[in-house]
Amino acid sequence: MRPLAIGPVVAANPVLLAPMSGVTDVAFRRIAARLGAGLVVSEMVASRELATADDEARLRAEGDGIETHVVQLAGRDPAWMAEAARVAVGAGAAVVDINMGCPAKKVVGGHGGSALLRDLDLAVRLIEATAGAVEAPVTVKMRLGWDADSIVAPELAARAEQAGARMITVHGRTRAQFYDGQADWGAIAAVKARISVPLVANGDLVRADDAPAMLAASGADAVMIGRGAQGRAWFPGQVAAHLETGAASPAPSLEIQRALAVEHYEGVLGLYGREVGVRHARKHLGWYLEAAAETAGRQADPAAKAAALTARTAEEALDAFDRALNDLQWRAAA
Ligand SMILES: Cc1cc2nc3c(=O)[nH]c(=O)nc-3n(C[C@H](O)[C@H](O)[C@H](O)COP(=O)(O)O)c2cc1C
Repeated sequence: MRPLAIGPVVAANPVLLAPMSGVTDVAFRRIAARLGAGLVVSEMVASRELATADDEARLRAEGDGIETHVVQLAGRDPAWMAEAARVAVGAGAAVVDINMGCPAKKVVGGHGGSALLRDLDLAVRLIEATAGAVEAPVTVKMRLGWDADSIVAPELAARAEQAGARMITVHGRTRAQFYDGQADWGAIAAVKARISVPLVANGDLVRADDAPAMLAASGADAVMIGRGAQGRAWFPGQVAAHLETGAASPAPSLEIQRALAVEHYEGVLGLYGREVGVRHARKHLGWYLEAAAETAGRQADPAAKAAALTARTAEEALDAFDRALNDLQWRAAA
């Protein structure tokens, strides 16, 4: 595996954890990085909010304990993007990524995220302003285009590189697709032909042995994993190991999965405080149970799972999670 160099920043390996709003908070990113993800990216952070020191934005951009910290910014105003980039780098970000792929109405309505796929001139101005504001490398994450009739990723990527972007990530879907259908890894290859900075392919990598196929189909230098890492913080590291050795590496034991889930859960509580944290962290318990069930080759007990997901206190949630996991372990051993 060749090292992934983003300007002067070198990632440990070419397997990245994707930015996911409401999911990839610093507690998650710390664990994924420790378990071997080559690079981890923050949740998208609204540039204006970060520049004006909004508490939630600062929490989303938190990078404490992460060696190479990447903050993803969203917005449509070059001045706010530039200021937010300065704030992020001032607080320790090694790389600033710009979101040009979010399909959410709230973000697109504000002309950020994937709305930029329909206004390449503005997209370029945002990149120039951001790259001009900080020494740290600036990268861009985009979709293939707005819809099947407007595949702009090759053109946007080429213009982004000229404007100063040091790496391009492409999710192989259009905005019109949201998350439907299959990501088109082959379509990402048209971007590779237009740029000389590293290209990262993204979309639907859910099994470790998908990674060589994704790299071959897209011609990309690296892969990025989103939903495949939910409840499986070890998955990017497992994919990196697979790319390195070519051998299949098993999922961690259920005991290790239990410890990681608890560490992650408590990390989220530490970040948001117990009351908000319990609501925020419960989805992770659900995902960890799904991963554990997959490892055990059994369904998780629905009642214990429901109890973990609806508990009002952290103690109740972790008790129910333990019960569900114990049940999986016993039945797997039986
Ligand atoms: C819950 C959720 C939140 C997401 N938030 C972001 C985000 O903040 N910024 C971004 O660029 N993409 C975001 N994405 C898109 C992912 O980064 C990724 O491009 C997409 O999920 C496809 O990759 P996957 O199939 O590996 O999940 C999000 C996706 C999900 C499912």
